[in-house]
Amino acid sequence: CGIVAYVGPQDAAPILLEGLQRLEYRGYDSAGLVVSARGSLKLRKVKGRVADLASAVPARFKGNLGIGHTRWATHGEPSDVNAHPHLSNDQRIAVVHNGIIENADELRAKLTADGAEFASETDSEVLAHLIARTVADTANLSEAVRLALKRIVGTYGIAVVDAQRPGEVVVARNGSPIVLGLGEKEMFAASDVAALVRYTRQVVHLEDGELAVIKADGFTTFTMDARETAKEPLVVDWDAGHYDTGGYAHYLLKEISEQPETLARTLRGRIDDRFHIAHLGGLNLTPHETRAFRRVKIIGCGSAYYSGQIGAQLIEELARIPADAEPASEFRYRNPVVEHDTLYVAISQSGETYDTLAAVQELKRKGGRVLGIVNTVGSAIARECGGGIYLHAGPEVSVASTKAFTSTAAAFALLALHFGRVRDLSPAHGRRICDGLRRLPGQIEEILAGGERIAALAAKYAHHPSMMFVGRVRGYPVAREGAQKLKEISYIHAEAYPASELKHGPLALIGPETPTVALVPDDELLDKNLTTLGEIRARGGNVLMVGHRQVDPKLADDVILVPKNEPELDPILLSIPLQIFAYHAAVALDRDVDRPRNLAKSVTVE
Ligand code: G6P
Repeated sequence: CGIVAYVGPQDAAPILLEGLQRLEYRGYDSAGLVVSARGSLKLRKVKGRVADLASAVPARFKGNLGIGHTRWATHGEPSDVNAHPHLSNDQRIAVVHNGIIENADELRAKLTADGAEFASETDSEVLAHLIARTVADTANLSEAVRLALKRIVGTYGIAVVDAQRPGEVVVARNGSPIVLGLGEKEMFAASDVAALVRYTRQVVHLEDGELAVIKADGFTTFTMDARETAKEPLVVDWDAGHYDTGGYAHYLLKEISEQPETLARTLRGRIDDRFHIAHLGGLNLTPHETRAFRRVKIIGCGSAYYSGQIGAQLIEELARIPADAEPASEFRYRNPVVEHDTLYVAISQSGETYDTLAAVQELKRKGGRVLGIVNTVGSAIARECGGGIYLHAGPEVSVASTKAFTSTAAAFALLALHFGRVRDLSPAHGRRICDGLRRLPGQIEEILAGGERIAALAAKYAHHPSMMFVGRVRGYPVAREGAQKLKEISYIHAEAYPASELKHGPLALIGPETPTVALVPDDELLDKNLTTLGEIRARGGNVLMVGHRQVDPKLADDVILVPKNEPELDPILLSIPLQIFAYHAAVALDRDVDRPRNLAKSVTVE
């Protein structure tokens, strides 16, 4: 979900609508806003898109202060009444909320007994009634919000306005992000910098358990114990241009096409050609610590997890440290054994995924050492980790991850090179990897240049109800991510399997109905992979092969060739045709490519 707030000399509604538009990619099924003018609140909220809200807002909807929201339903179906903001019965308090209130049922019962009338089925509405009751006693909005939040169990990012205090908005964070934007005699707040960059680059991130009062001339922050906190503004280097489709049909296509540049940015300044090592200044590890780790454990969700699998293989191959990846969402619930000689690595494009953040917090409680590989500078996971690698891939807007995925894999190649070179990776091998990394952007260009042919193949295969993706060892995480991309945006059912496991079960699914996308790099497993293709063809299955060289036409119906690099770096290049394939399959099926059903870009709830 998304939150935007404004206070200043301008008309609030257009600013809120513009901000909501920028946040729509995060989750959307309804939207709403409130503006405050002359002691009363004006509300509009609708089921649907921000565009629907914009047309529901009348021309005269004046007010210099307001809050807005896009919702992704958790409690209560998408509808006009369940949309935020929620108002207190006296219409004095309005609240927008991201997150989940776990004791909402109990509070709702108490408030109802106390005379509150609930309009919606949401957990969030309890906040409006709760704050309305405390504000009557305290005559101070920030204090009322603080006291009300003390009664809440759960997660929240909130923004609150009080009709009787037309100069301020109160925001608070616990598990769901809130960023303040500092303008010239105006202030903004949002759940994501995307909503702010059009107006300001100066931001302040709230920590969990922190509240802020924003007014046109400044802000104050304080803790849940009412202690004031000092904050240093951060300057973000993303600008509004990053949030335009830049002439492409979709953000997804733009982000796929940007990869030569985004990958180069991840690598820039980090490859040392003299000693064939990586410079990773943000790790905050001494050489002694770097040599002492005996294991690497990588955690992340969705595509971040699959990029972690690529990372684990790179670390094992280049640094010879046992490494594996696990979904952060699983890791945090299974009471993992946290060891002092294991290095933990958390991956997140947004830096706000709740499951990943909670896993990092759990690790830290148990004394674990965690690095972050994160795209969003200053995000919660980056702050929590205290050390790591920023991707510098620029904002990723489309729900399906592409450029952050390849940049994460490249960041892992750097990390593996770094660990390898302080252990026993030879200079010659280090040099191969450095040279290989430098070749990647140009090779991605070559793959992108073949996009039209991949589009034709996607259109050819898109009518199949189901597809299989297979790869061996380095190819397996690529297969998983390829299947993930296809199902996320085209809704074609797709399964990924290690090619070696096909004969232990899923081969039963193979037939003319179910084609297979096979990753067949020209590496030490080539012959094994060709045998698998033979097994699939023998069962009447069609094969779309992605690899480095043409094969016997009896083994593959179609072949997409990618340029060869060092085998360790193959996963990066092999992923790209699969992104393009998924994109064009989704377009061929007329799907909402950038905003696939039921998904959100960043899942800040459990
Ligand atoms: C959501 C998105 C996925 C993404 C995952 C992790 O589920 O739909 O595309 O891979 O979150 O996001 P993160 O921002 O932590 O990388």
